Amino acid sequence: MSKKLWGGRFEKETDALVEKFTSSIDFDKKLYNQDIIGSIAHARMLAKCGIISKEDAALIIKGLVEIKIEIEEGNFEFTSKLEDIHMHIENRLSEKIGPVAGKLHTARSRNDQVALDMHLYVKEKTVQVVRLLEHFCGALWKLAEKHVDTVMPGYTHLQKAQPVTLGYHLKAYYYMLERDKERFCDALKRTDIMPLGACALAGTTLPTDKEYTRELLGFSRIYENTMDAVSDRDFVLEFLSCASILMVHLSRMAEEIILWNTDEFNYMELDDAFATGSSIMPQKKNPDIAELVRGKSGRVFGDLISMLTIMKGLPLAYNRDMQEDKEALFDAAETICACLEILPKVLLTAKFKKENMAEAVENSFADATYYAEYLVKKGMPFRKAHEVVGKMVSYCIKKDKKIKDLSFLELKNFSELFAEDAARGFGSTEKYNKSNYIPTSHF
Ligand code: ARG
Repeated sequence: MSKKLWGGRFEKETDALVEKFTSSIDFDKKLYNQDIIGSIAHARMLAKCGIISKEDAALIIKGLVEIKIEIEEGNFEFTSKLEDIHMHIENRLSEKIGPVAGKLHTARSRNDQVALDMHLYVKEKTVQVVRLLEHFCGALWKLAEKHVDTVMPGYTHLQKAQPVTLGYHLKAYYYMLERDKERFCDALKRTDIMPLGACALAGTTLPTDKEYTRELLGFSRIYENTMDAVSDRDFVLEFLSCASILMVHLSRMAEEIILWNTDEFNYMELDDAFATGSSIMPQKKNPDIAELVRGKSGRVFGDLISMLTIMKGLPLAYNRDMQEDKEALFDAAETICACLEILPKVLLTAKFKKENMAEAVENSFADATYYAEYLVKKGMPFRKAHEVVGKMVSYCIKKDKKIKDLSFLELKNFSELFAEDAARGFGSTEKYNKSNYIPTSHF
């Protein structure tokens, strides 16, 4: 007979190559704590229902707690012979307490066990991500409040479009991250559901009490359908989807940090502690953190695509393909947490070059729409006003001037509707702040 915990019907030992190929221990050992928490709750339930004795349950729980300590202190041996974290823990338990250990897996399968571990992991990570997002949003708001008067060009097509303030620009990111937070919180509702008790797929004939385990493990609900419980990885897909959308936002922010730190833009200088140098070019100060955030977004999208592809053709219920869910999930969870931890620090320590931003507005035609709206306020149809100001821009380009440099007489040549006040220009920082051009009411 095979020495495996499932070896009853096997007459041969498993081939070493199969053990290596099927093993997930290198990555699922991360779930040791969730696995032990789940097993303790399960043992307590079995004892409460009289399926195992209270003494056996106590022995099992004591053994599990000791195993947790062994793992945390690095005194636990991992081997591909034991497949996964569930087998490792059960095997070690039987080494410690003997045949009583064999009672723990009553009314349970690795299918509901691994589903439980994954639910617990995703719940925990979601809470961590939401906390990090809260902190990031707080940092962005604070920084934005410091820059309610910092005028800068707003862009469309990466061409200067209309003046905004840095504060307003930063708050755009604040609102994106707020939505990310909401999305993770919403996904949590569907993650907070307990699969334990589904067993392999069809539940058990034993008189178990899922409601009791649900309470012990702090889940809000229990899966209605046991086949759904062991087959479902929607909660992983949702986490990865939320993570991907979040990474889109962080990558866009990273892209702007990179652009703004170029000599060409020169709107920002990173703190030395949050920049890196070149091994050959002594002058270099590179925005590697932002570049890595931008790059890591690709990894997280890849994790989502892997998971969607793994799941899409699976018949009900559990299939071993689903073991492949872990690396994608762990990778995405760890990546987003790392990005959320470092990016606020990059922003908070950076210096924003207000003068350069203001100058970029002054030396542009970002005030053109303002002039068009000026004419609209004087009664001109907008399409006509657009054309008039378009001609003014063209004239200025030829004369190497900005609109604000045009004299009252020059303005009058374009439209009789221009009055003295227009000739004073709308280009100064104070003017922009006082004008309703920048929607100050929104700050
Ligand atoms: N290591 C497996 C996984 O992560 C655990 C479940 C194994 N179940 C099975 N019937 N072989 O999916």
